[in-house]
Amino acid sequence: MTLCEYKPGLENIPAAQSSISYVEGKQGILEYRGIAIEELASKSNFIETVYLLIWGELPRKEELDAFEHEIRFHRRIKYRIRDMMKCFPETGHPMDALQTSAAALGLFYSRRALDNPQYIREAVVRLLAKIPTMVAAFKLMRKGHDPVQPRDDLGYSANFLYMLNEQEPDPLAAHIFDVCLTLHAEHTINASTFSAMVTASTLTDPYAVIASAVGTLAGPLHGGANEEVLTMLEEIGSVENVRPYLEERLQRKDKIMGFGHRVYKVKDPRAKILQQLAEKLFEQSSGDKYYEIAVELEQAVEEKLGQKGIYANVDFYSGLVYRKLGIPTDLFTPVFAIARVAGWLAHWKEQLAVNRIFRPTQEYMGTHNASYIPIEKR
Ligand code: CMC
Repeated sequence: MTLCEYKPGLENIPAAQSSISYVEGKQGILEYRGIAIEELASKSNFIETVYLLIWGELPRKEELDAFEHEIRFHRRIKYRIRDMMKCFPETGHPMDALQTSAAALGLFYSRRALDNPQYIREAVVRLLAKIPTMVAAFKLMRKGHDPVQPRDDLGYSANFLYMLNEQEPDPLAAHIFDVCLTLHAEHTINASTFSAMVTASTLTDPYAVIASAVGTLAGPLHGGANEEVLTMLEEIGSVENVRPYLEERLQRKDKIMGFGHRVYKVKDPRAKILQQLAEKLFEQSSGDKYYEIAVELEQAVEEKLGQKGIYANVDFYSGLVYRKLGIPTDLFTPVFAIARVAGWLAHWKEQLAVNRIFRPTQEYMGTHNASYIPIEKR
C-alpha cells in the first residue's frame, strides 16, 4: 500500500464521501442536499432544513408536522439534569456547561440500538429539542435564577429566545434567529464535524458524539470569531475611526476578525444573507452605531484586501445580530452549536450507514533501539 504524503491538519484530504452539503469557494456557493442556501434561507425554516439535512429530502407536510410536534414534546429536561446544572460554577463557560449536559443525556437515554431507525429518530429529536433548553437554562441558573420552562405554543426559535430573555420575542426577531440557525446548520467537514464522525465511527451513543463535537467547536480556532468581531467594533468606537484603526491593525499584521475564509475567496454567501437581516433588524430600531461601523469597515477591508480574496465571512454580522436579539456574548458559540447539531447528526447518520472505524496512520519521527536509563543515572 502506498502511503499518502503527510498534510498537517489533513488539508484537502477527503475524509469521507458525503452528500449532505457542498461548498464552492470561488463563486461562493453553499448547498444543503443540493439546494442553495439562499433558497433555504428565504423559503424554508430551521426545522424543515434539519429534516432535509438528516433524512436527505424535504418532508411532506404531515412528516414535517409530526417532526415539529415530537420536538416540541421533548423540549423539557429532566429535573436531575437541571439539578446537576445548578452545581456548575457560575464562572464556567457556557460551552463547557453544554458539553457536560449533552454528555449527561447519555446517562438517561444510552441504549445503543444503532441499527433501529426508531432509536435514531428519538436521539435526533431529543438532542434537537433539549440542547436549546440546556443553553437557556444555564444562562439563568448561573445567576441563581430558576430556568424558564419551554412554551409549547411557540415555534423552535421563538421558544429559545423566550426561554433566554424571559419574554416572547417579536415575530421579526424570531424569524431572523431562525434564519441564523439555518445558515449555521451545516458546512461540510470541519473540525467539529470530523470529531463527531470519528466518535460516531466507534459506534458509541449519539450523546457522546454530540458532546465530542461541542468540545471541538469550543476552541477559539473554530467557533468564537463572532465574539471577537464585537470586541473589535467596540474598540473602533466610531465610523471616523474605522480607516485609521484598519491601517494600524494591518501594519501590525493583525487579522481583521470576521474576514477571510479557508474555502471562500469571495464574500461568504451566509454573510450576504446575514447582512440583509441585520439591516432589517437595525432599521426597525432606528439604527445602531456598531452596525454603521461594521458597514464602513466592510467597505474599507474590501478596498484593501479584496484583491487577496479576503471578504466578510459568516461571523462578521452574526455577533451584531445576536447581541440585538438579547443573546449574551459568551452564548454566541453555544448558539452556533444549537444550529450545528443538525449537521453533526446528519454526518452521524451518514457515517453509521457506511461505517468503518477511523484509524489513520502516522509518520514515526522518533528514535529506535533506545536504551532504558535507570532513574539515578538520568
Ligand atoms: N485579516 C487580514 N488579513 C488576512 C485575514 C484577515 N482576516 N485573513 C487572511 N488574511 C491574509 C493573511 O495575513 C495572509 O496574508 P499573506 O499571504 O500576505 O501572509 C493571507 O491572507 C492568507 O491567510 P491565511 O491565514 O493563510 O488564510 P487561511 O485560509 O489559512 O485563513 C482564516 C482563513 C479564516 C483562518 C483567516 O482568514 C482568519 O484568521 N480570519 C479571521 C478570523 C475569522 O474571522 N474566523 C472565522 C472564519 S469563518 C468560520 C466558519 O466558516 O465556520
